[in-house]
Amino acid sequence: MVALLEGGGYADQVVVRETQTLPVPDGVGLVEAAALPEAACTAWTNLVDTGRLRRGETLLVQGGSGGVGSLAVQLGAALGARVVATAGGPERAARCRELGAGVVVDHRSEDVVAAVRQATDGRGADIVLDVLGGGGLQDNVRLLAPGGRLVVIGLQQGRTGELDLARLMAKRATVTGTTLRSRTAQEKAEIVAAVGRHVWPMVADGRLRPVVHARVPLDEAQTAHDLLESGEVFGKVLLVP
Ligand SMILES: NC(=O)c1ccc[n+]([C@@H]2O[C@H](COP(=O)([O-])OP(=O)(O)OC[C@H]3O[C@@H](n4cnc5c(N)ncnc54)[C@H](OP(=O)(O)O)[C@@H]3O)[C@@H](O)[C@H]2O)c1
Repeated sequence: MVALLEGGGYADQVVVRETQTLPVPDGVGLVEAAALPEAACTAWTNLVDTGRLRRGETLLVQGGSGGVGSLAVQLGAALGARVVATAGGPERAARCRELGAGVVVDHRSEDVVAAVRQATDGRGADIVLDVLGGGGLQDNVRLLAPGGRLVVIGLQQGRTGELDLARLMAKRATVTGTTLRSRTAQEKAEIVAAVGRHVWPMVADGRLRPVVHARVPLDEAQTAHDLLESGEVFGKVLLVP
């Protein structure tokens, strides 16, 4: 059994509503499966419920190498989107390609706006799934296609930014954001159920895999934090007993 927790996951035992649990998907071990619930629920609800991603659309995943991003790249591809991702450095970019991104822009060495525009024949992305927040706002709006949706899920570059409303209006675009943690129990139950119905079969048939960078013993949790701060992690770090 795996669960979407309210928080407090650094524990040997947790209490969780049954509606926020799912069986371990077929083909995946119990420990590996721990990489899935939060990332899959975040990717699913933001791409499908909020972003209204449709087959054939272009999805830009800002941070395709992250715990959420590496799942979102795979999910976008499995849902029939054309996936463009950003990643820091050529090795991380190559791994995003292996996960299903057709185009990957190295944000450390390339001009992301120019590269994404070039990759989309100047049109931009129908959905941008963003972990940058305020610091990425202007570029993300520039990168939206007509009718595009910017879905902010992270604030790694701050909580405020300048929004060019004229650009937004001209594109008939939407800027929105969500957090999983603030949802009601009912909403979490619906997201978890949808993930069980739609995403778990993709895991079982191999279209989507948990991306685990390292397993670290729970009593060495600081090592896991140091790893995350090193910028080298691709996917998830798991704390194990
Ligand atoms: N809203 C929600 O419900 C929800 C749920 C879960 C997580 N989150 C948030 O989502 C964010 C990502 O979570 P995570 O677990 O995936 O974190 P993570 O594993 O640390 O990933 C962060 C990613 O950001 C990328 N990044 C850093 N600077 C970048 C830049 N300038 N351009 C493009 N990408 C850049 C990194 O890519 P490189 O290292 O390759 O540069 C890395 O892949 C966090 O802020 C977290 O709090 C939100």
